Amino acid sequence: MILILDFGSQYTQLIARRVREANVYCEIHPYNFAIDKIRALKPRGIILSGGPSSTYDDDAPDISDEVLRLGCPVLGICYGLYIIAQHLGAKSVSSRAREYGPATLTIDEPDPLFEGLAGKEHRVWMSHGDRVEALPDSLQPIAHSGHSPFAAFRTYDGRMRAIQFHPEVVHTPCGAQVLRNFVLKICGEAGDWTMANFVQTKTAEIRSQVGATDRVLMALSGGVDSAVAAALIYRAIGPRLKCVFVDTGLSRAGERERMERVFARQRGVDLKVIDASTLFVERLAGVLDPETKRKIIGATFIDVFESEEVVGGARFLGQGTLYPDVIESVSFKGPSAVIKSHHNVGGLPERMKLELIEPLRLLFKDEVRALGHELGLPSEIVDREPFPGPGLAVRIVGEVTRERLDLLRRADAIVMEEISRDGFGARLWQAFAVLLPLKTVGVMGDGRSYESTIAVRAVESQDGMTADWARLPPDFLARLSSRITNETKGVNRVVYDITSKPPATIEWE
Ligand code: XMP
Repeated sequence: MILILDFGSQYTQLIARRVREANVYCEIHPYNFAIDKIRALKPRGIILSGGPSSTYDDDAPDISDEVLRLGCPVLGICYGLYIIAQHLGAKSVSSRAREYGPATLTIDEPDPLFEGLAGKEHRVWMSHGDRVEALPDSLQPIAHSGHSPFAAFRTYDGRMRAIQFHPEVVHTPCGAQVLRNFVLKICGEAGDWTMANFVQTKTAEIRSQVGATDRVLMALSGGVDSAVAAALIYRAIGPRLKCVFVDTGLSRAGERERMERVFARQRGVDLKVIDASTLFVERLAGVLDPETKRKIIGATFIDVFESEEVVGGARFLGQGTLYPDVIESVSFKGPSAVIKSHHNVGGLPERMKLELIEPLRLLFKDEVRALGHELGLPSEIVDREPFPGPGLAVRIVGEVTRERLDLLRRADAIVMEEISRDGFGARLWQAFAVLLPLKTVGVMGDGRSYESTIAVRAVESQDGMTADWARLPPDFLARLSSRITNETKGVNRVVYDITSKPPATIEWE
């Protein structure tokens, strides 16, 4: 494995992505990860990430010399470059002029890091304030850029390397190759970390964690993560996995049937469907505040789950936690500010005295999709768009009632149908309908109408953190609008949301 020590760069996850794309397993840990834990991981190489600090700051993050003395190859990126420079006695200065944006890197010495790159000059992305002014005898310069006389250097024994630019971002076209070279050529990784391998090692691990007789309980949400986690656990322990789908009454059209078809009928998984829709709708009656809705839904979910009937003697609770959630909670920066409280079953394991089993906690979303395909799950499950835990409740602005849920479900089904018919799905992060607490006047036939408004939201995004509204063709929007008003009783107006994130969020609540 390759260990990435995080100094707080916003790009650290991207370094991990690039390493994984080279089929090499890696983990991110905070820069001050204990040395004995690092030793236990037996890394074949260490990458020191960038970070927002300057080594001149009073509380500048640093690593112990022991990390550099472990013996495996080390690559310092940006702030990581200064760490190596400082530990080896290089002279750097803090300059007020930041070098930010594209730059040209000129390679002065051949190095395995640059193997396979055509020519000596390469476009790279820089983002730094300090710069290294002089190298001690132990370090050899290998590349420079306009602003940085030592944009890349190495120790003479070739064990440590440092680069000023960011190889992990798309603005450095040769960057993926540089990182591949580091992990494959310099660290000697085999590049054989594939999903087929992952299934093999993970199922063996699950079997040994669960033992020969114990049972695992897993809540299917309808989303990709819990579905893939369940399929993996099922592959490991078969019928000792028990799945539960809580029908909250807040899901999109056809959700419950899809789960029953794919899991129970096609695979023979023991799936229990609990219809708790009445309870959810009752508890949401009269609630208008988005955060209160989210909290009520989370708490109700736990209540439903806590009933003896569901647990049925299970010792473990499966969860579809992904790597970004894990990094978020352990990272250098700590968890970011809560904009919306996400609904999950956090708190459940302690209350129910169940041990957690989280087979996806080291994977990124696209890896989870690849794993889903590897496990033979259908595309209708694996490639679906994200859906919020609190479901349609946060797409109904104002009070949630059964009638309003039914109305939104119908309008939303039309959006889903039209999007998939025109094949826009691949381009979009999400597309859905929102029901507004707003009646407006319309005219239908000869009569006046006074009915509800549906907003359509369709966004493009890489990761859901930022998003842009999709420029869907006017003819397509016209068809959506006329189908929604014609086929959804109670709706006489459709509007299209043309706000990016930020300033708006993707979901309306
Ligand atoms: P926002 O609305 O914050 O959404 O821009 C970003 C992405 O997260 C999804 N989302 C959720 N996912 N539980 C989830 O698992 C939730 O409570 C939740 N709320 C929002 C949203 O659909 C979008 O893709």
